[in-house]
Amino acid sequence: MPTIVFASPKGGAGKSTSAVVLACELARQGAAVTVIDADPNRPVSAWARRPGRPDALEVVADVTEETVIDAIEGAAARAPFVIVDLEGTASLTVAYAISRADLVVIPSQGSQLDAAEAAKAVKLIRQQERAFARRIPHAVLFTRTSAAIRPRTLQHIRGEFEAHGVPALQTQMQEREAFRAIFSFGGTVESLNAGQVSGLEGAARNARAFAAEVVGMLRQSRPAEAA
Ligand SMILES: Nc1ncnc2c1ncn2[C@@H]1O[C@H](COP(=O)(O)OP(=O)(O)O)[C@@H](O)[C@H]1O
Ligand SMILES: [Mg+2]
Repeated sequence: MPTIVFASPKGGAGKSTSAVVLACELARQGAAVTVIDADPNRPVSAWARRPGRPDALEVVADVTEETVIDAIEGAAARAPFVIVDLEGTASLTVAYAISRADLVVIPSQGSQLDAAEAAKAVKLIRQQERAFARRIPHAVLFTRTSAAIRPRTLQHIRGEFEAHGVPALQTQMQEREAFRAIFSFGGTVESLNAGQVSGLEGAARNARAFAAEVVGMLRQSRPAEAA
């Protein structure tokens, strides 16, 4: 079923964090989710080895350039949601994953320098659209933003992307300790200990809004299947 690919040539853009947060939130809502860890550094697999991974969330690792398409097709045949986490480079693995995506999420921190890297991801997506003669829905996700302030630069960058026909998600991944902590302690925002990590409620709200917007975008692009 729908495949959501997190892509950006920039390391540290927030791909793995946002991918795991989305997967956990979909699993919390009761959907079976398969995360394909296609980054040779295996950040999602390392998270999954810690305690607290939701039962409905499966991680497929050891995916290579040769196996990524099979991995995506296999997962899509069994799970309602497939999420692909990629490494921060341009590679054949990245190109293949994008070619199979129902939605490509391009995480980017809200600076002009990061936006330039996100624009490279957009270029690659557009090449894949031409190569496969199909539309590949995609959107920028601003990450590590402030929950308190809405910087002008971010609005400016959003406007620039939109002027080039690239939508940005309304929901941003705010800079939240909880989104870091799940990689240290394992599990989900909900399973973290409120005594150890602050701001859990805000993080949970953020995760829900993010998942709702992603599901809404999938529905829009595949009305019959995702309805
Ligand atoms: N929303 C967020 N809130 C707090 N820290 C974040 C957030 N998103 C990413 N980070 C941190 O930023 C760094 C890079 O994030 P990561 O998800 O690994 O990026 P990528 O997968 O694109 O390389 C990590 O240290 C991660 O903990
Ligand atoms: Mg990563």
